[in-house]
Amino acid sequence: MALFLLMMETDAMSEIETLEREILAKIAAAETASALEETRVAALGKKGVVSERMKTLGKMSPEERKEIGPALNGLKTRIADAIEVKKAALEEAALDARLASEKVDVTLPVRPEPKGKIHPVSQVTEEIVAIFSAMGFDVAEGPDIEDDFHNFTALNFPPDHPAREMHDTFFFEPKEDGSRKLLRTHTSPVQVRTMMTQKPPIRIIIPGRTFRCDSDQTHTPMFHQVEGLVIDRDSHMGHLKGTLEAFARTFFEVDSVKTRFRPHFFPFTEPSAEMDIGYERVGNEIRIGQGEAWMEILGCGMVHPNVLRNCGLDPDEYQGFAWGMGVDRLAMLKYGIPDLRDFFASDARWIEHYGFDPLDQPNLAVGLSRK
Ligand code: DAH
Repeated sequence: MALFLLMMETDAMSEIETLEREILAKIAAAETASALEETRVAALGKKGVVSERMKTLGKMSPEERKEIGPALNGLKTRIADAIEVKKAALEEAALDARLASEKVDVTLPVRPEPKGKIHPVSQVTEEIVAIFSAMGFDVAEGPDIEDDFHNFTALNFPPDHPAREMHDTFFFEPKEDGSRKLLRTHTSPVQVRTMMTQKPPIRIIIPGRTFRCDSDQTHTPMFHQVEGLVIDRDSHMGHLKGTLEAFARTFFEVDSVKTRFRPHFFPFTEPSAEMDIGYERVGNEIRIGQGEAWMEILGCGMVHPNVLRNCGLDPDEYQGFAWGMGVDRLAMLKYGIPDLRDFFASDARWIEHYGFDPLDQPNLAVGLSRK
């Protein structure tokens, strides 16, 4: 009897083991929460295989029950635990899948390297504008196609005066009335346009394109100037000198610059001068600010009373100063560019070498030029 019982129990035990293997395999194989739930109900639900077996305990002898009972309880616990573990794993996998599908890339794409360069003429114009803006100057502009009055007459060029010829003017075909338009030979006509339309005090700079029939290593038929004009009641040569010296220091990015004002002649200023700055040549390099050599960088003077009068201002009430400088020449000097004609040759290799980063704006706070 005892042997028989033992055999029965052994059978029952191995059945339980088989059952456990089967159920655990199903749990492992469940790929979804509902498949897992089905397995749970089939095993541990009211009518599940494990529950049904538990019900048979009541009919067993006490010895059998002592043996089978704990085995079934152990089975139940292990299955319940396995289901919990699997459930957690499935939930985590579901969450990972959802996170992956709902992922938003909040990073910006890498900013592409800017293509192209800023031309030295644009760069230097911007530098000059930055310097004079900081001193309180406004920027004014005027047309490239001018008439004789604004380009010459109002600026006190006498009719048939050789100074008109000096300018190698490009004239358009004459109209029926004999008048002819021209390409402005300097930015000075914008002085006239400004004085005729604005009341002093006037403090402007005028960047722009200018034209003369001339071409060699340092002259091109089209070039660039920045004009300056200050009109007030008591602006004088001292102000002119201080303004232009401060400009030269800041523009050439040096602590001090030697300057020299040489008497000169312009029809529109009296007295007139050319401003030279000191420099030194070391090998191929030109060092601005030091040395014994002089280089002319601009023309300037006190606005001629006739010009004030021509523009409707009373010279007994107003006076002021003006200057004009060549942007291309200043660019050649500052950045060591040997031939002016290359400026307009549209050579990509040249602009790649001499051009400036489009994202660097000339700015007095962070530095005028960063190559
Ligand atoms: N307009 C002159 C030129 O192109 C430059 C110049 C000289 C402008 C003296 C001025 C000035 O305003 O005062 O050669």
